[in-house]
Amino acid sequence: MRTIAIVNQKGGCGKTTTTVNLAGCLEAEGARVLVVDIDPQAHATLALGLEPEALDENLYEVLAEPGGDARLGPVIQEVREGLHVAPSGIVLSALEQRLAGERADTRTERLAGALETVADRYDYALIDCPPNVGILTFNALRAAREVIVPLETSFFAIDGVQKLLETIALLANRIGHELTVRILPTLYDGRTRYARETLAEIRKLFGDLCFDTVIRANVKLREAARRGLPIIRFARSANGAVDYAALAVEVTALGADADAIDAPLRPAAMAPEAGPIHTREVVVEFRDPRAADVRIAGDFNGWVPDKGVQSRVDSDGPARVWRKVLHLAPGTYQYRYVVDGEWRSDPDNPRSVAGPVGGKNSVLVVS
Ligand SMILES: Nc1ncnc2c1ncn2[C@@H]1O[C@H](COP(=O)(O)OP(=O)(O)OP(=O)(O)O)[C@@H](O)[C@H]1O
Ligand SMILES: [Mg+2]
Repeated sequence: MRTIAIVNQKGGCGKTTTTVNLAGCLEAEGARVLVVDIDPQAHATLALGLEPEALDENLYEVLAEPGGDARLGPVIQEVREGLHVAPSGIVLSALEQRLAGERADTRTERLAGALETVADRYDYALIDCPPNVGILTFNALRAAREVIVPLETSFFAIDGVQKLLETIALLANRIGHELTVRILPTLYDGRTRYARETLAEIRKLFGDLCFDTVIRANVKLREAARRGLPIIRFARSANGAVDYAALAVEVTALGADADAIDAPLRPAAMAPEAGPIHTREVVVEFRDPRAADVRIAGDFNGWVPDKGVQSRVDSDGPARVWRKVLHLAPGTYQYRYVVDGEWRSDPDNPRSVAGPVGGKNSVLVVS
């Protein structure tokens, strides 16, 4: 189970929206997903269609007492077959104070212990954190190996996030486990120059820490939350659904990459006898006068944009042409372009297949 905490002390930056909709898109791809709502506001619980006050039990029962771990299973509610939620309720606001009186080393381990008891039932646990870095958020950071920090594309938000990254690094150091942190630009309105400049600034500041996906402002995301549905189940062609589906692809690819790193090296004696694999140089081109950043991702690079790809940008009259140089063995490949954070099929390639999370993947045949 990959455990990912969605963290930012700033209110209203899209933590809950990201938790619920990333969960919905991962589930739509066939993953088994648990949403863990540790925010006393219980917005994730509500956005998944549950009424917090109508539930007899919630995470309070699990986290309040030592040994509450075993209560997590019974507390979990099913939203759909592959999408479950460990619900919150207003009573969690009393938990911070209650735990404050307990031993500092164990009070932040409660959630990690509880999640271990269900780890074999899920592929992902996504933890929606409250807008502060208190004991509840520390519990989430202890339980998680990965952190997503949604960052509203505004200059004022950037300053706070740098402090947050320092806090997370300090904590990771103290508890002695690695935390992979990634920034997710949210609430992006590409029509304004201000937002475009801010996004460029965020990319410059955080570089590879930034997801390629950008979540655009989209009113359908609010409507979906009010209806108690992840957007992929409410309006699957809306920008919000497209963006969170792209995020799900990126998150999945990052996991595949980590698996590859962790995989034991194959002993030399077991290496295939096939001899050298002959690759061919293949150049694909993308043109769009409005695009500022174009990358390519496909099954040849684990869907990690531009990984292992040589890029060139040339001018063709007023238009810019992105040329991507790939070295591929004979076979059939699927790919998409990531254009300013948006995943798009190749407009010049008529061959495509339906992608696993909606949209189309372009198909490339190398003979
Ligand atoms: N991309 C988006 N487009 C439009 N509205 C959005 C988007 N993301 C979030 N919102 C809306 O903005 C508001 C705040 O978002 P959300 O609840 O996800 O933030 P949060 O970080 O979880 O807030 P809090 O810190 O209070 O928990 C909500 O009404 C939500 O529906
Ligand atoms: Mg929230």
